[in-house]
Amino acid sequence: MGGVDQPQPWWRDAVVYQIYPRSFADGNGDGVGDLSGVQRHLDHLCELGADTLWLSPVYRSPMADAGYDISDHTGIDPVFGDLAEFDALLSAAHERGLRVLMDFVPNHTSDQHPWFVESRSSRENPKRDWYVWRDEPNNWRAALGAGSAWTWDEHTGQYYLHLFLPEQPDLNWRNPEVVDAMHGVLRFWLDRGVDGFRIDVAHCVGKDPAFADDQRCAAGAPLSDFNDQPHSHEVLRGIRKLVDSYPGDRVLVGEVNIRSTARVAEYYGAGDELHMSFNFPPLDAPWDPTVFRMCVREVERELGAMAAWPTWVLSNHDNERHRTRYGGSMRRAKAAAVMLLTLRGTPFLFQGEELGLEDATVAGDDRVDPGGRDGARAPVPWLAAAPHGWDGARPWLPFPPDAAELSAESAAGNAGSPLHLYRRLIAERGRSPALRRGDWEELDTSPEVFAYSRRCDGDERVTVINFADRVVDVALDGRWRVLVASDREGEGEPYSGAVLPEQALLLQPDRS
Ligand code: GLC
Repeated sequence: MGGVDQPQPWWRDAVVYQIYPRSFADGNGDGVGDLSGVQRHLDHLCELGADTLWLSPVYRSPMADAGYDISDHTGIDPVFGDLAEFDALLSAAHERGLRVLMDFVPNHTSDQHPWFVESRSSRENPKRDWYVWRDEPNNWRAALGAGSAWTWDEHTGQYYLHLFLPEQPDLNWRNPEVVDAMHGVLRFWLDRGVDGFRIDVAHCVGKDPAFADDQRCAAGAPLSDFNDQPHSHEVLRGIRKLVDSYPGDRVLVGEVNIRSTARVAEYYGAGDELHMSFNFPPLDAPWDPTVFRMCVREVERELGAMAAWPTWVLSNHDNERHRTRYGGSMRRAKAAAVMLLTLRGTPFLFQGEELGLEDATVAGDDRVDPGGRDGARAPVPWLAAAPHGWDGARPWLPFPPDAAELSAESAAGNAGSPLHLYRRLIAERGRSPALRRGDWEELDTSPEVFAYSRRCDGDERVTVINFADRVVDVALDGRWRVLVASDREGEGEPYSGAVLPEQALLLQPDRS
């Protein structure tokens, strides 16, 4: 483990905040969030203590998959702004010490992308082979409820591959021209000064060259749930090499959306693929100490052995928010935040989780996403009074429940809000080498409790999370003081040895 004085790359110390631009803040009053909205609220991130933001796609897109279907990789969609506004946002972020990660989507483009328009124009077109065309489909299934991963093209009499919507044809990374073109895209943004990329479905890029049927698809699973081919690793090594050729420690964090931590660990390569990978089992975990213990042990075992740096995520734009997953309980959501921000690794927060937002109920004609993921994508309420800082046209999705009470404005004025809890936890990370870079050791307590210690060069912290809805006695060696309590009960006082129902505590040695 890195000691207090040992330099380590910035992203190991980072707290990353995911901005889903459509829903973050609306600068031009059209009901859809945009870049100027993001810029306007950068201080929210600074006050929170986040130091890096990841921007979900803002590229030009027909929005079949809310921007993950890109028709121009180097242009900003007019709904979000333009390149000048992007540059302004990047400088405003950098001036505040915030780093910026872009979303990079290597697996597919939009079917409206000029590359695909050319590719599908004729079998002889020079870009035909930039995508994956076959005479016969196999049994691969697409995600987002799209059925077969193959769509018939009447005009040229072949099928094209798409692991997501038919509007998202898969690129053929075995074609060196595709590699060059996509490296050119990365260079474009690196030259503009971005600090790295979140790589969309990084595990999907390489495909089985034999195009063999897969039993798991026959059983109904989309290929993107488990696709895991050596060629993806080769593609990532190429991207890593390019990114490493830039000064300033640019970073790659990959979405490896397979539910095996051992397989996820392989995407770090020999330090020559991803710097960090998402690991999603904790994002599926219900409110259950056994499940969390298993998830964390597995990360420590699989990634620890490779000296690969972990990441932690409880919510994002593709899944139910964690408060919703835990039955809507704010107490649980807050206790989970203590865990998220005290485990060993880089935490990724999803906009609005620091406000304790739940998923919105999106029904009937309000539904937008073909994958049914609208709930987590509801607009962030900034002000208590409706329309909560979204002053122009009606926002593209309804607000989450209790928008007035949970708005950023109300939260700022309420010391018991999740916002203040997140701020305190992030500040404590900043103060404690043990939390940022210390080792991790599980403590043997009681079955309802998940407890662990973090240590680095004489600095020590202990986290105790009580998953039960009753008080549990948790005896610890030595004397401890409560630094942060998820519900503020007992904060600043000596640790009593009893943990309240669904309460999480961050403790430090009591030397008074
Ligand atoms: C990733 C994105 C998701 C998108 C999919 C296809 O999983 O997070 O939002 O639908 O890739 O690009």
